[in-house]
Amino acid sequence: MNLSHLVSLADLSAGQITELLDCAEALRPQALSGSSQRAALQGKSVCTLFFEPSTRTRSSFQLAAMRLGADVLGFDASHSSGSKGETAVDTMRNLEAMGVDAFVVRTSVDGQLGDLIGAAQTSTRFINAGDGRSNHPTQGLLDMLTIRQHKGHDFSRLKIAMVGDIRHSRVARSDLHALKALGCGEIRVCGPKALMPEDATLDGCRSVDDFDAAIEGVDVVMMLRLQRERMQEGLVTSLEHYHCQYGLDTRRLALAKPDAMVMHPGPMNRGVEITDAVADGPQSVIMAQVSNGVAVRMAVLKTIFGA
Ligand code: CP
Repeated sequence: MNLSHLVSLADLSAGQITELLDCAEALRPQALSGSSQRAALQGKSVCTLFFEPSTRTRSSFQLAAMRLGADVLGFDASHSSGSKGETAVDTMRNLEAMGVDAFVVRTSVDGQLGDLIGAAQTSTRFINAGDGRSNHPTQGLLDMLTIRQHKGHDFSRLKIAMVGDIRHSRVARSDLHALKALGCGEIRVCGPKALMPEDATLDGCRSVDDFDAAIEGVDVVMMLRLQRERMQEGLVTSLEHYHCQYGLDTRRLALAKPDAMVMHPGPMNRGVEITDAVADGPQSVIMAQVSNGVAVRMAVLKTIFGA
């Protein structure tokens, strides 16, 4: 596959998404242990340029790049000259001048990847690690890989419920791009009206107001985090009320298929969108999602370098 940057899953065909998932699947044995891939990116330098906090995405990109043999530079925005007014573009160009070959970028600014790509040398690679509310393509890929591992490759047989704050969620947008591209049988979306997007994000989805109705008979439940850092005041009246209406507990989960899998991208607001019993219960695949993140990010790094 010829891919210089990964900005949005909307830019990829179903075939390209499947190719990346197949590559990640093949890399899984090396993703969490072993050293057989250490020569793949030897001599390359990868910088995690994160202007927003992260636990999973930054750490798994750094491990993925190290397990492929790249030099890894972890940029810490809170201790950078950004606090003196340096722009993101100037920051990137200075790191590029030190020999960084690829940037993994997280930013609160929708579309900022385009500015960075436009200002960089044409040989420099970029991967979107989450921009504003727009895209989180590697989260979308790792979610698809996790579904495939548990439910098989035929997405047309699947009913999926996506529940919570879809409006502010870049994870939701990337998952929806991928689910639609892979031909998911039915996508139900559920959440407070104030937390539903007003653009074309939900085209092709079935909106269901009541969570009990939305979860009935589904194969996959995707819970989303309340993105309070991106939210105007007053969109959610109280967390207790939100939990009563849209929190996933064992009673609600029993309405889904008995073998339904529960997903959450993390970080979780335990007791708000999901209870401890469900998050840590037998149907949760949340830690499998995290493990798959390393393999997916190895696959994306290898692909953008043509390795
Ligand atoms: N899922 C996810 O993006 O988590 P982090 O914010 O910890 O990277």
